[in-house]
Amino acid sequence: MVFEIVRRDGLARIGRFQTRAGVLETPALLPVVNPKIFTVTPRELYDEFGFRALITNSYIIKNTPGLKERALEEGLHKLLDFEGTVMTDSGTFQSHMYGEVEVTNEEMVQFQKDIGSDIGTVLDIFTEPYWTKEQTAKSIETTLERMQVACDMKGDMMINGVVQGSVYQDLREDCARRMASMDVDVHPIGGVVPLMEQYRYSELVDVVISSKKGLNPNRPVHLFGAGHPMVLALAALMGCDLFDSASYAKFARDDRMMFIDGTYRLAYMQALDCNCPACRGHTIESLRKLTRDQRTKIIARHNLYQITSELSLVRRYIREGRLWELAEMRCRGHPALLDGLRRLKEHTAFLERTEPISRDGAMFYTGSETRGRPIFKRYADRVMERYVPPTDKAAMFPDGGKPYNRVYGEQFDKAMKAGYTPIVTSPFGPVPAELDEIYPLAQSLFPEITDAETVTESDNLTFDFIEKMGFKEVIEADEIPDGGDMEYDPDVLRAKAIANYQFGIDVADAMFRGKIEIVKSRKTGKIRNVISDGEHILSLRAGDGLYTLRPEGAQRILEKIPSPRMRVIVNDDSVPFVSEGRNAFAQFVLDADDEIRPMEEVIVVDRNDRLLATGRALLIKSEMKSLKKGIAVKVRTGSGDEA
Ligand code: GUN
Ligand code: ZN
Repeated sequence: MVFEIVRRDGLARIGRFQTRAGVLETPALLPVVNPKIFTVTPRELYDEFGFRALITNSYIIKNTPGLKERALEEGLHKLLDFEGTVMTDSGTFQSHMYGEVEVTNEEMVQFQKDIGSDIGTVLDIFTEPYWTKEQTAKSIETTLERMQVACDMKGDMMINGVVQGSVYQDLREDCARRMASMDVDVHPIGGVVPLMEQYRYSELVDVVISSKKGLNPNRPVHLFGAGHPMVLALAALMGCDLFDSASYAKFARDDRMMFIDGTYRLAYMQALDCNCPACRGHTIESLRKLTRDQRTKIIARHNLYQITSELSLVRRYIREGRLWELAEMRCRGHPALLDGLRRLKEHTAFLERTEPISRDGAMFYTGSETRGRPIFKRYADRVMERYVPPTDKAAMFPDGGKPYNRVYGEQFDKAMKAGYTPIVTSPFGPVPAELDEIYPLAQSLFPEITDAETVTESDNLTFDFIEKMGFKEVIEADEIPDGGDMEYDPDVLRAKAIANYQFGIDVADAMFRGKIEIVKSRKTGKIRNVISDGEHILSLRAGDGLYTLRPEGAQRILEKIPSPRMRVIVNDDSVPFVSEGRNAFAQFVLDADDEIRPMEEVIVVDRNDRLLATGRALLIKSEMKSLKKGIAVKVRTGSGDEA
């Protein structure tokens, strides 16, 4: 079993999940197929909709005479006529909802193996949101015991280890952690259907995030029972890789159509404005005139098209590094979802760990919830901790358009000459003039008409910053006195401020020594290279305004800053490859700095702290250490390659 992370955004990942029936690209949704009635046949799901995995219920098969015998004889794939991955559920839900089930966990796991399920499920105990903590804790113990039995029995079938824990975040995290230590292949988050049915999305967010905290990053996470297109972006953002939907068929049988903003009854709809292949050519009247069976078929297909198109969009936004924007837009479609998005802000510290240092495109502000994105916290924390003002007085500027140095060039110069450090009050909080081109300050778009929340937050941050920096005097931009004559080198100040911000003050100090020369682009006038004591230590990227670490700079860090700071340590097998400039793969990583974030500059070293290469981390430490496949560091320059 291998799960490889190909791309990421937020906690979301584009993954490649290898099952014995093939490779599944995640995020993926598995339509639920009722083995007794195919509303849409598995063959159609595969050929027409492109589903490469489905989920069916082994308990129903086992209890249906005829089906049981055929499944045992022919196997599930033949029974269903489906060549993709088949996941089976165990009957937990049936036992829970209808009090049926007189089967044991052993029986169900054995049966799932016998019928050739690719991914079977333990007979877990469904923990309801209204359960007491004691009741929940007790049933988790039973689920964990059963899980151990299931792992011991599974053979070459993969197994779902369902995380339970009702709405208790500590129980969820603990259950997840204990499941993660077992030989489990996929982690569904269970017991969440009632939360989704009752639109309790803020609790869903707590449940998913606390479960994610306990799980290992090397296994796909399945959100059990989530299949409405409206939740997919938010759920993917929280790191759910797999989904399943029974509603596409259930809703269709009740004449209910799924759309991105909700579910609508055919009887109440005023018009059919859908262009999916199932609806094309139909009007609301023509749909209503069909026989019940015909209509169910069309609506089920319509529902599936809504799901697949949203899922494709989610994948695209992950690839483009814009999933936050999609999730925010989707969450504005329903107040309950907006609660979910707002609750996500409570988990910023956890989300910050996987928030990339920069993205390719500009970030868009979609409304006041955007302030909850971890990039805001990242910037505020770093500027507060890592900025060193060049003077002991400050001049405050309003946000008058970007880049600030172009808009305010002369006034900034006047301020500095008079001994005042120019600071712009931006939606991110205070922006010192030297930092105005780094991601996300320059690479972000905000509406010109500001909202009160952003103004308040920004003012608060600026106030704290001024206090922290200990400025003796703070004036407004129009109060800067004329005729100052302080000498300063704006390029060197900028070069150092960016290094402080990006690497931390101690690391920047380790690199900047002796004479500092700045090489600028003749075309743009922007800083390109930083030369210190005659050695090229850093190059500045035009796109995100942040540095690329040169081997000379890396060497200086290794000499002064103790391991594992900024390091990714690889084993001996990997040494010859990485020193030749090949990427460092996760399976060879021995250790890494826990502060490394995706897209961060890192130094790849051997076990003796010898420089092998510099590059950009694609994974964080916990991922590097647990993933068995995939690039940990995209290596730029081997130490032998001094070009
Ligand atoms: N289907 C929906 N929720 C659940 C759950 O919690 N456990 C199992 N096994 N199946 C589910
Ligand atoms: Zn449609």
